[in-house]
Amino acid sequence: MEQTLILVKPDGVQRGLIGAIIGRFEQRGLKLVAMKFIQMSRTLAETHYAVHKERPFYNSLVEYITSGPVVAMVWAGKDAVAAARATIGATNPVAAAPGSIRGDFAMEIGRNLVHGSDSPENAVNEVNLFFTPEERVTWNRLTDSWIQE
Ligand code: RTP
Ligand code: MG
Repeated sequence: MEQTLILVKPDGVQRGLIGAIIGRFEQRGLKLVAMKFIQMSRTLAETHYAVHKERPFYNSLVEYITSGPVVAMVWAGKDAVAAARATIGATNPVAAAPGSIRGDFAMEIGRNLVHGSDSPENAVNEVNLFFTPEERVTWNRLTDSWIQE
């Protein structure tokens, strides 16, 4: 089953939105595989956002993601990456659809609350960057057959 890395960014933690954000993925039917509450190091942030290294917003992005603790999670499901991205909404919250996390809770691109992997390939790398295989739980959910045909 496809897996994706989700982060509740420091603004989501500070604003008391951890539960509301996790609830969106849980209600959608994605299945929790791993979760931890961490302060990201600068090294971890730079590795995680390495693809944006040459972008003008790179430094502020690293500052933002390390400005406080985050909740790091792995969620699984069929097309988990695309499903989670849709639940998160467009990068710029002003353009994010109502009903998406960013569309309901955020106002600015630099305070957009959540990270979600953007492709299955990147998801594999990001999941391995944040979690060891032992930290990822394989479990039987009683509702699985009511969510996945
Ligand atoms: P994320 O990686 O955090 O899930 O967000 P995303 O895929 O929707 O957006 P991405 O293009 O990967 O950008 C990563 C994060 O960088 C900040 N950003 N700022 N000022 C800007 O033009 C700008 N563009 C991107 C955002 O916090 C974005 O989530
Ligand atoms: Mg991205």
